[in-house]
Amino acid sequence: MKFTSQKIAYHFFALSMLLLSLQIVYGFIMGFAHMGYDVLHEWIPFNAATATHKNLLVVWIISGFMGAAYYIIPDESDTELWSVPLAKLQFWSLAIVGVVAVAGFHVGWWEGRKFLEIPRPLDFLVAINVILFLVIILMTLFKGKKQTTTAWVLTMGLVFLALLYLPGMVYFDNISVDSFMRWWVVHLWVEGVWELIMGGILSFLLIKLTGVDREVIEKWLYVIVGLTFLSGILGTGHHYYYTGGPDYWLLVGGIFSALEPLAFLGMTIFAVQMYRKGNKSHPNKLALYWTMSTAIVSFLGAGLLGLAHTLPGVNLYTHGTLITAMHGHLAFWGAYASLVLAIMSYSMPLMTGRKIYDNRNGHLAFWFSNIGMLGMTMAFAAAGVAQVYLERIAGYEFMVAAEETKAHFFVLIIAATVFTIGIGFFIGNFFSFGLPSDDALNDAPEFEPLLA
Ligand code: HEM
Ligand code: HEM
Ligand SMILES: [Fe+2]
Repeated sequence: MKFTSQKIAYHFFALSMLLLSLQIVYGFIMGFAHMGYDVLHEWIPFNAATATHKNLLVVWIISGFMGAAYYIIPDESDTELWSVPLAKLQFWSLAIVGVVAVAGFHVGWWEGRKFLEIPRPLDFLVAINVILFLVIILMTLFKGKKQTTTAWVLTMGLVFLALLYLPGMVYFDNISVDSFMRWWVVHLWVEGVWELIMGGILSFLLIKLTGVDREVIEKWLYVIVGLTFLSGILGTGHHYYYTGGPDYWLLVGGIFSALEPLAFLGMTIFAVQMYRKGNKSHPNKLALYWTMSTAIVSFLGAGLLGLAHTLPGVNLYTHGTLITAMHGHLAFWGAYASLVLAIMSYSMPLMTGRKIYDNRNGHLAFWFSNIGMLGMTMAFAAAGVAQVYLERIAGYEFMVAAEETKAHFFVLIIAATVFTIGIGFFIGNFFSFGLPSDDALNDAPEFEPLLA
């Protein structure tokens, strides 16, 4: 760690870990409900559980992105963070708004638009919070001694993330228009600007971990940004099929969304090539594992499993089924959850000064969580295929089809248990590093001397 102010990242990472644990609890509540054991229904009905599960996901990932930015931007710009007291204020306000929003879902205070359920008054508080965050990041960037491409791509991703929250805050009487705009936020986030954040953080990690020249790594970053925008913006059309948009979206959405996996493939090739080119040895192998798994699993979950249902002829059958849940889990896990775990794995030893890099619990966390999540994806896939067949081809009622897919949720619970053990190891390992400390200040090269 080069600057004391980078320590603020720890707050955001710890909050992420807490919210991830809670998210998992709600995942189990829904998994059991699907199996027929909806025992908490009176207190936590399915709609409250699903809103909580998904919003906790979004908040812990964004909290992870914020922590990443507070760590990376001072490092890249070679300067202390612009204001630590304001960053602390921003942290506490984020945590409070998050808690109020989740509590609200349990008493029916919500908007009912998937992923954007947070009610309007809280939306304004979220917006103020994110503006404060961006001011701190931009001021740091501008007062810095240098402004790198990596820092800019990450910052632009965060700025667009904030701007794209706005279409979700406008009120429309017409439900089709409302649905159309909701997709802007959801799609242009995960298949657009969050990919810039991903590119920026991956680039930072690869520079640090492989020792390949910044110029080479940052050239790739341009390619990824280009591919993302080329495919992602018009690719949004794959959600307009059934929101009442004009017919031409079938063609435009189909073609451009089918190109989107290229951006993720670009990310995979980028990371693998840099790993192979790297001629230095970094002691933090776990951070490298998470970095590589982000690049690879995101291609599987977002690229391949996205492609699996993006064409209009397929989406006609799979829209809004458990096939979506299959893709949603592996895509979010591979791309954004793993990315946040990668930057945490990299920065925790440097912030706390405890160089317990290659520890057993860390490796168990990596394998259990990834294998568990692959198992969960397969269980959702099996349930999804059965649901599509029963509901959309054989024509059974929703609840009749749901009854038939119960067995797959038993498999889901088993895989989810493996996954949760992995996350348990990760969180245990995270807290075993202790608190960040000024004693960890160090600007020395991080690489190990090569023996041969
Ligand atoms: C123990 C772990 C977990 C379990 C048991 C679980 C289970 C579930 C269930 C049952 C649903 C509702 C499916 C439906 O009926 O529509 C769901 C939704 C969802 N979960 Fe999880 N989940 C877990 C962890 C996670 C994690 C770690 C992530 C992200 C990395 C995640 C992302 C999502 C998303 C994005 C949705 C919405 C899917 C859609 O759009 O259809 N979940 N989860
Ligand atoms: C990391 C990137 C991605 C993430 C995190 C992600 C996640 C998700 C989530 C959570 C949903 C459900 C959204 C909702 O119902 O509101 C969804 C829907 C969808 N995604 Fe992705 N996705 C990603 C990339 C992609 C890509 C690259 C493609 C296509 C190649 C794709 C194709 C689709 C399709 C077709 C749907 C609509 C499913 C339906 O009609 O129910 N996704 N995605
Ligand atoms: Fe999309």
